[in-house]
Amino acid sequence: MDFTGKVAIVTGGANGIGQAVAQSFAARGARGVLVVDRDATAGEATAAAIRATGAHALFTAADVTQSADVRAYVQLALDTWGTIDCFHNNAGIEGKIAVTAEYDEAVFDSVMAVNVKGVFLGLRHVLPVMLKQGHGAVVNTASVAGLFGTPGMPAYVASKHAVMGLTKVAAGEVGPQGIRVNAVCPGPIDTRMVRDIAKQVSPNNPEQVEARYAGSIPLRRYGTAQEVANLVLFLCSDLAGNITGAQYVVDGGRTAAPAGVASSIVE
Ligand SMILES: NC(=O)c1ccc[n+]([C@@H]2O[C@H](COP(=O)([O-])OP(=O)(O)OC[C@H]3O[C@@H](n4cnc5c(N)ncnc54)[C@H](O)[C@@H]3O)[C@@H](O)[C@H]2O)c1
Repeated sequence: MDFTGKVAIVTGGANGIGQAVAQSFAARGARGVLVVDRDATAGEATAAAIRATGAHALFTAADVTQSADVRAYVQLALDTWGTIDCFHNNAGIEGKIAVTAEYDEAVFDSVMAVNVKGVFLGLRHVLPVMLKQGHGAVVNTASVAGLFGTPGMPAYVASKHAVMGLTKVAAGEVGPQGIRVNAVCPGPIDTRMVRDIAKQVSPNNPEQVEARYAGSIPLRRYGTAQEVANLVLFLCSDLAGNITGAQYVVDGGRTAAPAGVASSIVE
């Protein structure tokens, strides 16, 4: 897990999982980490905290749903460091908790825009750079929601299944050129996202929702952003040289145990 001399881009890098990944690339020797996010305050703070450790990081504000923004963050990485070795295509949103029969169309569109189009645009603009270089590793953030259905989250579940599809197609396309594309499927991870979902389910008692949900997981707890970052870095590293088109769960055993599958945060 040595990234000495490597350059990494992390979308959604201002907070949560992406922040832990950006910090981890820097801590393991990357010569450049580009933090991409629409949250400029947190993004600047994340990059500044990395620089304070003596490592090299920049923040750039971008909306991953806008191709001009995506083109610009790719160009910034190239202008600054000349290469893109690792790409964590991670920005995502959860949308609203509501059943399909009542789901708001505009919310559906916004979830698909960030989680599917944003991931597509990242691949669309980073893969040509990696193809030209003849090397590179991409990790898309899917979810266990990309593997099975969760009642009350139609847009999110559909979007994460789509991320799995994009991952497999891209892996098949760029494998011959030595570029690897994988997906991570986190279960509940202790970030803003999962806390906001619990608040949507039970505004007055989100703690009870979290306790029930965590209690249904074999390890009996949410994962940490760092635990997801460890997997992302492994998949980006040379240790994972023969792994592409794969999906790795990091979920405390949730998908493995029938009780975990049967119980969802919205039930
Ligand atoms: N937390 C979990 O339990 C969990 C589980 C499975 C998958 N995930 C996935 O992990 C990824 C990271 O989520 P997180 O848990 O760290 O949540 P988070 O909300 O802490 O981080 C998401 C980041 O993405 C950014 N972002 C959102 N929309 C954007 C856009 N259009 N352009 C640029 N940046 C944008 C946000 O500003 C934020 O910094 C997401 O794809 C999420 O779906 C999270």
